[in-house]
Amino acid sequence: MTELADYSHLSTVYSHATDHIITGGKGCELYTTEGKTLLDFTSGIGVNSTGHCHPNIVAAIKEQADKLIFSQINIVYNEPVAKLCAQLKRIMPEALDTYFFSNSGAEAVEGAVKLAKHATGKPNIIVLNGSFHGRTHLTMAMTTSKTVYRLKYPNLPAGIYVAPFPYAYASGRTEEEETVHALAEMELLLSTQTAPEETAAIVVEPVLGEGGYLPTSKGYLKGLRELCDKHDILMICDEVQTGFGRTGKMFAHTYDDVTPDIMTMAKGLGSGMPISGIAYKSELGKKWITGTHGGTYACNPMAVASAVATIETLVDEKLVENAAERGEQLMNGLRALRQKYPCIGDVRGRGLMIGLELMDGDKPDSTLPDKVLKEVYKRDMLLLSCGIRRNVLRWIPPLVVTEEEINRGLKIFDEALGAATCI
Ligand SMILES: Cc1ncc(COP(=O)(O)O)c(C=O)c1O
Repeated sequence: MTELADYSHLSTVYSHATDHIITGGKGCELYTTEGKTLLDFTSGIGVNSTGHCHPNIVAAIKEQADKLIFSQINIVYNEPVAKLCAQLKRIMPEALDTYFFSNSGAEAVEGAVKLAKHATGKPNIIVLNGSFHGRTHLTMAMTTSKTVYRLKYPNLPAGIYVAPFPYAYASGRTEEEETVHALAEMELLLSTQTAPEETAAIVVEPVLGEGGYLPTSKGYLKGLRELCDKHDILMICDEVQTGFGRTGKMFAHTYDDVTPDIMTMAKGLGSGMPISGIAYKSELGKKWITGTHGGTYACNPMAVASAVATIETLVDEKLVENAAERGEQLMNGLRALRQKYPCIGDVRGRGLMIGLELMDGDKPDSTLPDKVLKEVYKRDMLLLSCGIRRNVLRWIPPLVVTEEEINRGLKIFDEALGAATCI
């Protein structure tokens, strides 16, 4: 390792999928110090939705840097944040008309839970099994996608209850049966573990992310909305990974035609600048006591300028529509590979958020993903795995991905799967 590439003082707590050192990127490609061009189908775990270094985003950041890098929101207002509120108002469900900004997805979830506690005066939160909500102590307690995220970090905050996520492919039930079953389990939780009068909110990822790229089964979110209304519980949709066009609609909860009371957002909002937030109904905000929440970097002008340019770009360049079209192409291509590879099980998702389960007969194959990823990486493509059963390959290319790039990704995957399974 040369002196310039000495990472020996970098914390070893970060895991690394590859050892590549990146010098730059454009669109769906990343360039390495070894002169390689990588096809990036990870988008920095769903962050680079507008691709790497989209000219609109670069220009917005440069322009803002010339004017003002930081001013503190508890002391003064900055100009870009008013623009961001106006942009969000344009693309959000009408009822979600008030916005709070922070830096990371976990902070957004923390904010949503703090708001829910003030708005309802109730202490408990329900999450779904397989969820990933972050790495702070509260969000670790809300995360059930893998034990490693909470390993040796006792004690986690109390008051978090876990209900089943509808997972028809694993249970063998039909989608309709799974929806009924999961909602019945939620009712059971409310009658056996945390009473409605003690439950502030239910937090749901409309498409389970880290837990397996698994859309909620048809009608589940609608049923959950009705259940929340019946019991006077707030519905929080965590759209940190699904938001801003990733699923072929601007927000994934709209697939079930429901409106949550609170929605979290991050990742795709800032095109790589650290910005997150929550959108909520203004009547809830009346009960959120001023000064009880905030953060030094909230509404950071640079990050906000990037978010404004991101939303403009998503709309102007029809990237949400592109996500739907390219997602269909990718889904069809992956499903076609099932003829050749019996190890490919369920291929599901929405837009450009697609999960592919690797199976050994009728059992999940938790060892194959690493072998396949090794072969994918050898062929200069980036892809990730996920899933509570450790057997899902997750597909999240940037929303600017082209037809040719999807075909290139499919070809590399075909070769890699062939090499890993010796077919
Ligand atoms: C649905 C969801 N919520 C919350 C988070 C946490 O976001 P962050 O890592 O920015 O804290 C993630 C991260 O992957 C996520 O996918």
